[in-house]
Amino acid sequence: MPATDVAAYRKSCIIDPDAAPADHGAKAPYVDNGFGPISPERYYSMEWMEAERRHLWSRVWNWACREEDIPLAGDYVKFDLGRESFIVTRGDDGAIRAFYNVCPHRGNRIVTDEDGARPQGFACRFHNWRFSLSGENTHVTDRETFREDALCRNRDLRQARCETWEGFVFINMDEEAAPLLDQIGPLCDHAKPYRVRDMRIMRRVQAVWEANWKVGVDGFNEAYHVHAIHPQILPVFDDYHAQIDLYPNGMSRMTTRFAHQSPRMNEEGLNPALRAAMEEVGLDPDMFEGRMEDVRPAIQKAKRKRAERLGVDYSMFSDNQLTDDWNYDIFPNIQMGMHPEGISMLYFRPHATDPRKFIFDVIVLMHPQHDTDILPPAYMGLPDDTDLSGREPVEIEHVDWRKGGLGELFDQDASLFADVQKGMESASYEGAILSEQEQRIGHFHAELERYLAGAMSG
Ligand code: FES
Ligand SMILES: [Fe+2]
Repeated sequence: MPATDVAAYRKSCIIDPDAAPADHGAKAPYVDNGFGPISPERYYSMEWMEAERRHLWSRVWNWACREEDIPLAGDYVKFDLGRESFIVTRGDDGAIRAFYNVCPHRGNRIVTDEDGARPQGFACRFHNWRFSLSGENTHVTDRETFREDALCRNRDLRQARCETWEGFVFINMDEEAAPLLDQIGPLCDHAKPYRVRDMRIMRRVQAVWEANWKVGVDGFNEAYHVHAIHPQILPVFDDYHAQIDLYPNGMSRMTTRFAHQSPRMNEEGLNPALRAAMEEVGLDPDMFEGRMEDVRPAIQKAKRKRAERLGVDYSMFSDNQLTDDWNYDIFPNIQMGMHPEGISMLYFRPHATDPRKFIFDVIVLMHPQHDTDILPPAYMGLPDDTDLSGREPVEIEHVDWRKGGLGELFDQDASLFADVQKGMESASYEGAILSEQEQRIGHFHAELERYLAGAMSG
């Protein structure tokens, strides 16, 4: 039943009321970020885009690649962020370093491929200056033609900070930034049972969406729109009772029940999607005698039983983690839907020059599987023929959202967000009005405004 007011609604969203404060599923203390309005200019003005470039992107940790993408000395990945580009590479000493992808001579980009291998170091194709894997300038062509003073300037590739967490390599342009783990926050601890370091990217799909990057982050930070845009998942998704936890540094989490019909539906008995979810874990819906609310616990139990048979270790996970979506938002632009079988990760990067576009990546990480009995859960959206061995790094698939390719759910969001972007630019629009279901949006923008404090007029 829907709640009668905000206080009752908040109470109804605590998924495990018995959780001890130290339990990973525990409800975090309430944080009041108000309810808006959120100024609309931030979604389209060049002034905001520029302020974010100078005060946000240059100061936060930005995810660049996975450690396994660059296993050998000289392997590199090019990581683009707005107008900046970085080379993330492994040195002869095994250390991972990040360099601005800029030649100190006349500013050429050093690498242009998405990834590759340069075991001998990097050479600039403009005048063939060369650089070691640790960034030192090792060769200046026709050195005798430079005056001595000219070569006193820094000739090495400029380094950015680089830190890793669970196999993810992050870079930071700010020498003074707090360590990466501060930004990852409680997820450092919460992620431990998932053994994320051992996971591999099984699929990565990228598209350019017709909206500001924050329209994307906001949209995926709430389940309020699900009934209107994605009604197809309501039979197995309790969109209404989302537990929202707000953490320091702009981080948040939304926990939602899967294998539980939305209260917006009032279908009696087991709907076809719930039946399919039961069959996926080996339960026979025709033999099931419980009510709809009993399906989720039954699936949790069945998963534990099946785990023993398949030799999968669920012992570190609570029952709720076996069925539900625990979605963490790492400020400013990463969301991770954590599941024991894998992670569904969303990545929102600003476009280099256009505030009305963003680069959207959908990344699926899983533990490598050699047992064909273990199939990726349906919500991961992996094509049937996906190679789950994790032996080779996957290529990024570039798709056009207008032609589909991201899957039904994401394609629905892509077309929606393009309309949101247009509507927000109307002179009549006064800025977002937020409900309790949209608390993560308020939390995100409060942190964004702290980064931009003093830089913006509105
Ligand atoms: S710009 Fe790179 S060597 Fe001249
Ligand atoms: Fe959506």
